[in-house]
Amino acid sequence: MKTKLTASPEEAARFLLRDELVAFPTETVYGLGANIFSEKAVGKIFEVKGRPSDNPLIAHISDFSELLLLVKRITAPAEKLIDTFFPGPLTIVLPKSKYVPSVVAAGLETIGVRMPSHPVAHKFLKACGVSVAAPSANLSGKPSPTTWQAAKEDLDGKISCILKGDQSDVGLESTIVDCTGKTPLLLRAGAITLEQLQEVVPGIEVYSPAPDARPKSPGQKYRHYAPNASIILVDHPSEIESSQFAAYIGIENSVSANKVKISNICPTVTEYARSLFDFFRYCDAHQIKIIYCQRVASTGLGLALMDRISRAAQH
Ligand code: TXA
Ligand code: MG
Repeated sequence: MKTKLTASPEEAARFLLRDELVAFPTETVYGLGANIFSEKAVGKIFEVKGRPSDNPLIAHISDFSELLLLVKRITAPAEKLIDTFFPGPLTIVLPKSKYVPSVVAAGLETIGVRMPSHPVAHKFLKACGVSVAAPSANLSGKPSPTTWQAAKEDLDGKISCILKGDQSDVGLESTIVDCTGKTPLLLRAGAITLEQLQEVVPGIEVYSPAPDARPKSPGQKYRHYAPNASIILVDHPSEIESSQFAAYIGIENSVSANKVKISNICPTVTEYARSLFDFFRYCDAHQIKIIYCQRVASTGLGLALMDRISRAAQH
């Protein structure tokens, strides 16, 4: 299959409306979109990514009216969070309506919904005129793509179209909050921080499944975000051991950072988050075997950053 690269949201939308898959930019990471109401198109997402069929997809919308078709009801905490943070890097999980094919929700009775704030994503979704089911546009297990080039690296020849945009601003996937029960639960940390969520819904809890329980967010049980290289967490670059096959990413600079082949000193946690997945891919392309990642405080965006780095380190 030939993969069309385009900068036109309208052209990309025409592919989607023919039941084809389209990779598109968002402010978090690139998504791999299909018409949410087409079982055939949604099925292709699982096939192309090699995604386990029990891992549900997020619905992407450009207009609040779409919610009525996707969800059975909007709970009180959901309403507050939507009012405050939509459009933006936040996914809300709600009871699913009967109109959404069950393949999207991987058999769950719930659906995650997100309204991206990225202008190109918005234009694309508007041009589609339907809600778009989309996971991140990487092969399962690889780091999420934050550039169109990274999406191309994984999906060239496998999908019909890549809508080109700039590098994703956040660089980490959206915050996910389950609003189906009385107490909202943070399922995945992201750029909308726990502190920001607490201001709007003070009762929110961080979900952590019992070790042998089925996790509420099925994707959390799979190995994720991982480069081929091994990840070693360090508090300070002085812990780095000299190697031509090692790399370092972190906030702190030191002479020790020169003991590795590639180092990426990030001026802020925001910059660190933005460049993390791209750096992982860059290291893989340069035969790096060990990536030293500096720990940051698990507050604000640091919670999401440490979550992704720890998951990448778990293998
Ligand atoms: O920022 C993002 O969320 C990106 C962009 C493209 O929007 N999308 C993304 O999708 O990260 P994906 O499929 O890579 O990750 C979605 C996560 C998975 O861990 C999945 O299990 C969880 O969301 N999820 C989806 N629907 C859910 C639901 N109904 N209940 C609980 N978790 C859900
Ligand atoms: Mg993903």
